[in-house]
Amino acid sequence: MTTQAKKSLMSGMRPTGELHLGNYLGALDNWIQLQEEFNCYFSIVDWHALTTAYKEVDQLEDRIFDMACDWLASGLDPNKCAIFRQSEIKEIAELHLLFSMIIPLSWLERVPTYKDQLQQLKEKEINTYGFLGYPLLQSADILICQAEVVPVGEDQVPHIELTREIGRRFNHLYNTEIFIDPLARLTENKVLPGLDNRKMSKSYKNYIPLSASPDEVLTKVKSMVTDPERIRKDDTGNPYICSVYAYHKIFNTENRAEVEVACKAGSIGCMQCKRMLADKLIELIQPIHERKQDLIQRPDYVRDVLAEGAKKTRIKANETMEKVRKIMGIR
Ligand code: TRP
Ligand code: SF4
Repeated sequence: MTTQAKKSLMSGMRPTGELHLGNYLGALDNWIQLQEEFNCYFSIVDWHALTTAYKEVDQLEDRIFDMACDWLASGLDPNKCAIFRQSEIKEIAELHLLFSMIIPLSWLERVPTYKDQLQQLKEKEINTYGFLGYPLLQSADILICQAEVVPVGEDQVPHIELTREIGRRFNHLYNTEIFIDPLARLTENKVLPGLDNRKMSKSYKNYIPLSASPDEVLTKVKSMVTDPERIRKDDTGNPYICSVYAYHKIFNTENRAEVEVACKAGSIGCMQCKRMLADKLIELIQPIHERKQDLIQRPDYVRDVLAEGAKKTRIKANETMEKVRKIMGIR
């Protein structure tokens, strides 16, 4: 299939800090498969990061670079997809502005993530115009690329629905068909618990970084919370409340049944069980770790990839914007 015949796909991630195994499972490994099938645009959404973290600007540049390295190290291929930094495409800001003229405030106020986040992130003081417009900016990301497919997690579905409504409103208002309806493509829901069995979260620091070294992986796995009732090595265990087993289920599918039986029978010690898991995780993570070390040594290459990705995206964005400007009477 030629690029022309492929459907377009767009997705983005906020550069909020190092990627971890949960991000890989929730998004990246999916993107890596999708790049074979679609004409992909993957955006490091730095403007979106500023909607909530506008005070933490010092680290932003490094985080963007780090995210680009993580993506490349995991297997996103710049020959197959455009990898770019959102703020390099000024046309997105322009589309966001023009959309802001036509979207009723109530549409944004009723987005379920809006009030939730306002409550949850009180200390960040995000009672701002930009934060209210978060999903509108996301719509501009998607619609400017003419993306038909948007791989996201469940939490993002209201944003994709809003994107469709905005596109339709634009089409209807100006009697045009320029915007196509994008569809959310849900990431298969394999939720990875944190190492301590709580929800995996940056603030709890209960995760394994995607680019961890083998030693780091082993240390993290050793720290994982197991069945607390298991004191001695031959006590029978309950794998269903153990985070180590939850990881075996996902990362060690071929041996997970064996682990389950052995744990229940008390014929495997937790230490041995953790070593098995660590070996599996290292198999996955070590190549990523090594590729990332290599990329860090070649910052110019990484910057070239971002520049190329931006170039490709800008072409598409310009195509869309020329039509939009004309339709809205702006030259
Ligand atoms: N809002 C998304 C998130 O928090 C990130 C995002 C920004 C995005 N723009 C996008 C996702 C466009 C998909 C498409 O995860
Ligand atoms: Fe968890 Fe494995 Fe120990 Fe069972 S044997 S409690 S699954 S670490």
